[in-house]
Amino acid sequence: MTDKPRLTTTAGAPVSSNQNSKTVGPNGPVLLEDYQLIEKLAHQNRERVPERVVHAKGWGAYGTLTVTEDITRYSRAKLFSEVGKKTEMLARFSTVAGEQGAADAERDVRGFALKFYTEEGNWDLVGNNTPVFFVADPYKFPDFIHTQKRHPRTNLRSATAMWDFWSLCPESLHQVTILMSDRGIPVDPSRMNGYGSHTFSLWNDKGERFWVKFHFKTKQGHKTFTNEEAEGVIAKSRESYQEALYGMIEDGRFPAWDFYIQAMPEAEAEEFERKTGWSAFDLTKVWPHSQYPLIKVGVMELNRNPENYFAEIEQSAFNPSNVVPGIGFSPDKMLQGRLFSYPDAHRYRIGTHYESLEVNKPRCPVHHYNRDGTTPFGLRTNPDAYYEPNSFDGPVEDPSVEEPPHRYSGDVGRYEYRAEADHYSQPRALFALFDEAHRQRLFKTLAGAMQGVPQFIVDRQLAHFDKVDPAYGAGVREALAEQGKDDAQASLTTSHAAAAE
Ligand code: NDP
Ligand code: HEM
Repeated sequence: MTDKPRLTTTAGAPVSSNQNSKTVGPNGPVLLEDYQLIEKLAHQNRERVPERVVHAKGWGAYGTLTVTEDITRYSRAKLFSEVGKKTEMLARFSTVAGEQGAADAERDVRGFALKFYTEEGNWDLVGNNTPVFFVADPYKFPDFIHTQKRHPRTNLRSATAMWDFWSLCPESLHQVTILMSDRGIPVDPSRMNGYGSHTFSLWNDKGERFWVKFHFKTKQGHKTFTNEEAEGVIAKSRESYQEALYGMIEDGRFPAWDFYIQAMPEAEAEEFERKTGWSAFDLTKVWPHSQYPLIKVGVMELNRNPENYFAEIEQSAFNPSNVVPGIGFSPDKMLQGRLFSYPDAHRYRIGTHYESLEVNKPRCPVHHYNRDGTTPFGLRTNPDAYYEPNSFDGPVEDPSVEEPPHRYSGDVGRYEYRAEADHYSQPRALFALFDEAHRQRLFKTLAGAMQGVPQFIVDRQLAHFDKVDPAYGAGVREALAEQGKDDAQASLTTSHAAAAE
């Protein structure tokens, strides 16, 4: 006898052996009645769920948001209600393009997804480590992602597809410049910032709305790899982010980020557009700090590793449409598209009742009238109040949490964006921040990423770099010529070696 718990079937009956299947004689065939053997094999076949269509490779941990400043003048959200308030949260970081087995230290945008378990429901901020994005209309997101995934014929990533798309969509220039800059390969998730990226809204007790941007600034400081350093890391480990994040939390070196907002009174958005020419809701643009300085909110710390990666990180479902009273959306088209896309992905990927999974479950009472469907686990409902309105004490609405009305007007139509917008000023402001050594690394990385791309596509992209700054285009041209020379040299060496054999 032992103190260990007794192994049972999933139906709870004790299991006599987990070592030897039931056979006819020692070498004989197995019996269909050995249900535990069948159960084990069948269950294994169902161990995987579809990986996320984007952001498949990820690393996550739990933590706490602590409010350090009073922002109740902007928002009535309970998580901001008083200085010192702590809210439990979950973070999942990710790369965008690679599959689940991709190497962590690849150059890519990083996902920065946060779930705050507030007393009035979950608030999910599903951002990235960059403040902008490649496209400005959700119509173009599937096309963009196709260029990041494998080519249908070769089953390889295609530099031609990427640069063809980017050069035809100049709104991508800002994000492409960040991606190809030093910030394109953070050393680990603790060494990067996070941004909500979109414009969201906050609304206060008086019903006033502010447009806001969310920023999380690393307290560890930025640290990044060059391409060469990253190649060295990947040669040794494809799991460098998982090792780093898991390790630092196990060691008690808890990573933390300062949490800030930028805030714009609702009525000011039109003036901002008049003055700058940029829409306050354009995801390819930032709000300059000089006009909208950062306002401190609090500190986010990650301090607990998950116990079960699959249950808590793979099955986590972050959803931009999860907001709480005091936090709202904005007219940003991309954000509006995402409000549909994520819950749709979750229902497909992890099932109708994904919000009832332990990791996604709100830490506050949940009452609704959605019923039945596949595995509706854990839903306790009043059996007589299964429709609404009813006379049997079923849950009722609370008009006090209605957000202030939005004032939208305009003619319905498909508005041309690409031809008219300014795609160059903000990348120019970013390029101006880079010192000469950073610029040289940017040029080299870009030239490396363009290898094998047809010249007419390269030329189209170079014309965009020229419009940002003639030094940008000239630098990339020079780096391309340099790499062309290296390639010619390499092929000469190879052909000499081949001739010598
Ligand atoms: P500021 O000089 O006030 O701020 C510059 C910002 O650039 C800082 O937030 C800094 O982040 C960030 N930064 C520095 N290097 C990089 C890089 N390689 N990739 C991405 N971000 C970087 O300038 P402005 O507010 O006027 O903006 C100028 C440009 O800075 C923008 O066009 C945009 O490209 C970039 N930027 C602006 C942000 C904003 O919200 N205004 C946010 C992030 C970038 P950190 O403080 O962490 O070093
Ligand atoms: C993941 C769609 C733009 C950040 C996903 C997923 C989908 C998706 C379907 C997988 C969800 C899942 O299976 O759980 C879209 C669409 C977009 C868009 C349609 C544009 C219209 C963006 C932008 C950002 C972003 C602009 C950041 C600012 C993320 C992150 C994840 C993700 C961080 C991973 C979340 C996690 O860790 O589970 N996206 N996306 N996406 N997306 Fe987007």
